Amino acid sequence: MLKTSNKKLDDIVFSDLLIMEDFISRNVAYEHSELAANIISNLIKSGGKKIRPKLVFIVCKMLNYSGENRINVAAAVEFIHNATLLHDDVLDDGEARHGVKTANKIWGNKSSILVGDLLLTLAFRWLIECGNLNILSILSEASHSLVKGEIKQMTTQFSHKTMRENYFGIIEEKTASLFSACCETAAVVSGATNDETTRLKNFGFNFGMAFQIIDDVLDYTASTSGKQIGKDFFEGKITLPAIIAYENGNNKEQEFWQECFSSINIERDFNQALRYIEYHNAIQLSMEKAKHYIDAAQSNIIDSPYKTVLINFLNESIERRA
Ligand code: FPP
Ligand code: MG
Repeated sequence: MLKTSNKKLDDIVFSDLLIMEDFISRNVAYEHSELAANIISNLIKSGGKKIRPKLVFIVCKMLNYSGENRINVAAAVEFIHNATLLHDDVLDDGEARHGVKTANKIWGNKSSILVGDLLLTLAFRWLIECGNLNILSILSEASHSLVKGEIKQMTTQFSHKTMRENYFGIIEEKTASLFSACCETAAVVSGATNDETTRLKNFGFNFGMAFQIIDDVLDYTASTSGKQIGKDFFEGKITLPAIIAYENGNNKEQEFWQECFSSINIERDFNQALRYIEYHNAIQLSMEKAKHYIDAAQSNIIDSPYKTVLINFLNESIERRA
């Protein structure tokens, strides 16, 4: 028998994930919607890593909770996340996730939006079944943050003064808020103390910040993930590698970035962007920032036989190239 600390998180939460998947398929079948079933099965095919439900399950294990509500919470966070992906691919005109064609490209934008809405309503139905207003409140606030972050991302104008602050505000809302809420609701459902809940919530928040920074770095680095490289850049999304290259650039370089991020319908030169990013070491500096959040996440992990398992999971998720 392997010691708990030598096991992988994926193995520890494996049976919980199966129970969650069974719970989801029973509840989706109940909806009798072929379109929803097809879109959900496409989401499953695109091989999401299920990081959010995994976080729920490991936190419950750390706190010795094995009640039914953990399944409702895990299924709900997975569906909130899947709803955001469906909507995000419409907004970004996404074509593929992990090499699989997106729902908007197969069934169209209208279907993607409606099924995203359906997933969101199912998620809240499952949360209501938990009968705990605190859980409902945490996840409705997180969902509110997700939308606020996307609106901010869509409407923020290029600004020399505020771009760094805006970027961190956006990733806090669009990604870290849900990671944080997963750990917080899992703590609440498990009956954790206030101190444990705060630490786990901080763990999730910092994990989410690091996760999004790395996602943004991957947009500028060669990837084997099926993710389209340069997508953020061509959409005019201002992310950390570009911000670092801009801040350290000379006048000509700053004009280049400004034009890329403030004009619509212009030819954007991705190779030039990559040269500036490389010249200013912006990938490494972005990764250092991500590391700062990883360290903060790690320092908030509570004591438990699963502590090492969670630390390893954190580092592996961050080292991902997918
Ligand atoms: C992915 O970012 C997008 C998000 C993390 C959040 C998306 C949120 C919405 C679309 C708001 C809708 C909210 C609800 C609750 C339905 P990205 O585009 O940088 O990442 P990607 O590379 O994976 O597309
Ligand atoms: Mg996107």
